Amino acid sequence: MNILILGSGGREHALAWATLQNPKCDKLIVAPGNAGIAAIADCASIDIMDGATVVTFCEENSIDFVIVGPEAPLAAGVADDLRGAGFAVFGPSAAAAQLEASKAFTKEICDAAQAPTAAYGHFTDHAAARAYVAQQRAPIVIKADGLAAGKGVIIAMTDQEAADAVDEMFDGAFGAAGAEVVIEEFMEGEEASFFILCDGETVLPIGTAQDHKRVGDGDTGPNTGGMGAYSPAPVLTDAIAERALREIIRPTMAEMAKRGMPYQGVLYAGLMIKDGVPRLVEYNARFGDPECQVLMMRLGAQAFDLMHAAADGRLSEMQVNWGADHALTVVMAADGYPGTYQKGSVIKGLDALPEDSKNMVFHAGTTAKDGAITASGGRVLNVTARGDTLAEARARAYDMVDQIDWPEGFCRRDIGWRALD
Ligand code: AMP
Ligand code: GLY
Repeated sequence: MNILILGSGGREHALAWATLQNPKCDKLIVAPGNAGIAAIADCASIDIMDGATVVTFCEENSIDFVIVGPEAPLAAGVADDLRGAGFAVFGPSAAAAQLEASKAFTKEICDAAQAPTAAYGHFTDHAAARAYVAQQRAPIVIKADGLAAGKGVIIAMTDQEAADAVDEMFDGAFGAAGAEVVIEEFMEGEEASFFILCDGETVLPIGTAQDHKRVGDGDTGPNTGGMGAYSPAPVLTDAIAERALREIIRPTMAEMAKRGMPYQGVLYAGLMIKDGVPRLVEYNARFGDPECQVLMMRLGAQAFDLMHAAADGRLSEMQVNWGADHALTVVMAADGYPGTYQKGSVIKGLDALPEDSKNMVFHAGTTAKDGAITASGGRVLNVTARGDTLAEARARAYDMVDQIDWPEGFCRRDIGWRALD
């Protein structure tokens, strides 16, 4: 098959790496890709937000199957355009991707599905939102309704912070995404990510992971897109995963189908776990980044068969073959991230690192320039390893990190601490 992957991050490098291991893959193109992806697949610089452009590209390149990596093209309806033109696609419709693109939509679906999640109010009126936070009191969580690249959530620990956060949202700090605001009960507990494939009807869990959202060791400093991850996440035990499927995931998927917007693709459920009880924090309509890197490292070639079956309505025939293995990825970011950072610094030492089924550096924001790899984003590399134990995976990942010569970059040194320390 000729396969096209849309996206340019570490997630898409990992998806490409796993897909290439599957014998069904004859040719792989990634659009737009990055320097690491270019080393293993063809890259095409097209506008992946424009459905018509992607459809034409697929026609011209005899593409048989498209995997959509990021949420923005999903929310823009690129998967719909492709399916409308007769292409097989892994990824939900724009209607179904509202589970990520609109927090108010998701809260309403959860109400209908009776899925346990935080109590909330939904506001389009500034004064009403101010009155609600004054009544509910801190700690409380204020969220812009739409896609805000992971930045539209403010956790207010004091009443003053809550009032300021509401003002900020309604004063346009998050643009159109903040014109509607969801205000939620603050949930305590430990967070974990649960990944489930759905073909519109059947759900199939494909793994658990834990991300590290804060920039600094010990979970300090501002939030980021994710500074590292590991899989499996021991906090999400089989019993809790089964409960989440029963109480949250299956009812949500059934409600989506009932409303005529069956969900096809990967559903990423962010869960808050307390006293053995999972509650939904959020859904995403895509793989997590960097969680995808550890999932792909563990799933390998079967990942493509699973995605293909989800797109084809054949998930009920599929089984996931689990190894008793662990994977861990360390994100290396440019100094200053998640604030402002420089682009263009040179990264050395990558060539000497092992690249096999247990060790892989997935690239995020990199560019090849004059034969060198340079940093061109905030999150730049995902140094990923697999082992029989999490400790082994972590030791191997940091061993690789220490061989990378990039003075302008940094990473957290404590990825995996909740499971290990
Ligand atoms: P979201 O974009 O909805 O995932 O929110 C980003 C992060 O904010 C989550 O991963 C949680 O760490 C935190 N968060 C969101 N909603 C809540 C909540 N209701 N209670 C506690 N923490 C939350
Ligand atoms: N790593 C968090 C996310 O992908 O949203």
